[in-house]
Amino acid sequence: MLKELGEVIPAPANVQPVAAAHFTIDAGTAISAAPGTERVATYLAELLRPATGFDLPVTPAGGPDALPGIVGLWLDESLGAEEYRLEISGTGVTLTGGTPAGLFYAVQTLRQLLPADIFATTPQSVRWTLPGGTIVDRPRFAYRGAMLDVARHFFTVAEVKSYLDTLVQFKINHLHLHLTDDQGWRLEIQSRPALTALSGGPGTGVDGAGPGFYTAADYAELVAYAESRFVSVVPEIDMPGHVNAAQVAYPELTVDGVAPAPRTDTKVGYSSLVADKEETYAFVDDVLREVAALTPGPYLHIGGDEAQATSAAEYRTFIERVLPLVAKYGKSPIGWHEMAAVDLPPGAITQYWRTESADAGTARAAANGGKVLMSPADRAYLDMKYTAKTPLGLDWAGVVDVERAYSWDPADRLPGVGEDALLGVEAPLWSETLRSLTDVQTMAFPRLPAIAEVGWSPRQSRDWDSFRCRLAGYGPRWDIQGVAYHRSADVPWH
Ligand code: ACM
Repeated sequence: MLKELGEVIPAPANVQPVAAAHFTIDAGTAISAAPGTERVATYLAELLRPATGFDLPVTPAGGPDALPGIVGLWLDESLGAEEYRLEISGTGVTLTGGTPAGLFYAVQTLRQLLPADIFATTPQSVRWTLPGGTIVDRPRFAYRGAMLDVARHFFTVAEVKSYLDTLVQFKINHLHLHLTDDQGWRLEIQSRPALTALSGGPGTGVDGAGPGFYTAADYAELVAYAESRFVSVVPEIDMPGHVNAAQVAYPELTVDGVAPAPRTDTKVGYSSLVADKEETYAFVDDVLREVAALTPGPYLHIGGDEAQATSAAEYRTFIERVLPLVAKYGKSPIGWHEMAAVDLPPGAITQYWRTESADAGTARAAANGGKVLMSPADRAYLDMKYTAKTPLGLDWAGVVDVERAYSWDPADRLPGVGEDALLGVEAPLWSETLRSLTDVQTMAFPRLPAIAEVGWSPRQSRDWDSFRCRLAGYGPRWDIQGVAYHRSADVPWH
């Protein structure tokens, strides 16, 4: 069945259908790539070949192949970096991006406009017809993120790559990895080998059921894969709380120098780095130096949440010592909003995560010109149960079904934190109750697309009734990909 041109998640900014026009990709279709677009053109061809069974050769633009029947990729500097134009006419398809990232989003839109069978891995006898018209689209916010907690339960490189491939369908461009917590340490630090030797192995994670860690090479592989999909990895080293796993490995990080017992329960707020010990800052320097060197993206997340075992004075001392270390290694710090108790340097980003309707620290950071990421738990936390009956997840922020995840606006969430203060939105997924990639998918879908639309689409073009119908249309795409999703009663699934 032919899709309507605007039947896309997230909703595009401008959609102009031309009812009489449509284009069918067939065995004679070629993909032409203007200079600078080759990588995205190849990605497009690789997406389309399995289900269509067509050759879809990628050829340089402007040669003898510049004929009707072409899917052409172009760059146009007059468009914004993440902006794109998708034109579908009776004679061909043109995708134009401000940069390759914009072009990548044009490809994601094109994919959604094809029949659901385009996600099949073997050739299908389907007419691959696209609806005619023009889409001109760009994101509302620069940062559209998802967070995965690989500390409470470890997820392998293959699992995270798979999650990434399902995220980018919705134009997510940051993957925040919560790499360390009380129950585990998941990134090899070469100068501090005991971290993963003692806190990344068997028996770590909640209930001891989530062991594993990334070697530096694994992490580099993951980061490169994400970059190939225009996703920037944001590594989080959570401090000064949530550090039991670090203290197990390096007992000098405790007050008395005695290693605590490993923990596999889900309590929070009991561990703290020691603000007045130099060993603390030697450790943090080693870790941040190595993490920064492995991470091409601009951000290092330093946690800062739930430091109940740290006094307010120690917390301030600690954060004020650590922020310059992030800068020293060339990165911009992100912290959970408790960090905003401290006067933040320019460029520091505050991530709001709680459920209150006001937050003085976050508002102060915004008033000082700081940018804010919105992740209110009662809307954006993918680990909240959908309903009281959901077997997975937590409910401390209430239950969050799809309409609740969708029907809010980040610019209205906190007094003093309006549109101009927002860097974007992020949907965190904590893993205390998760044990598999299927569990991750079940909690993320279909709420992650709701947060993706909150982050991408113009405020005035968001509409719950439209969204729930577009989601229902997405169901078969997840079915064909073998991606688990919650069949929420909020959505009129076919
Ligand atoms: C958090 O949920 N502790 C950031």
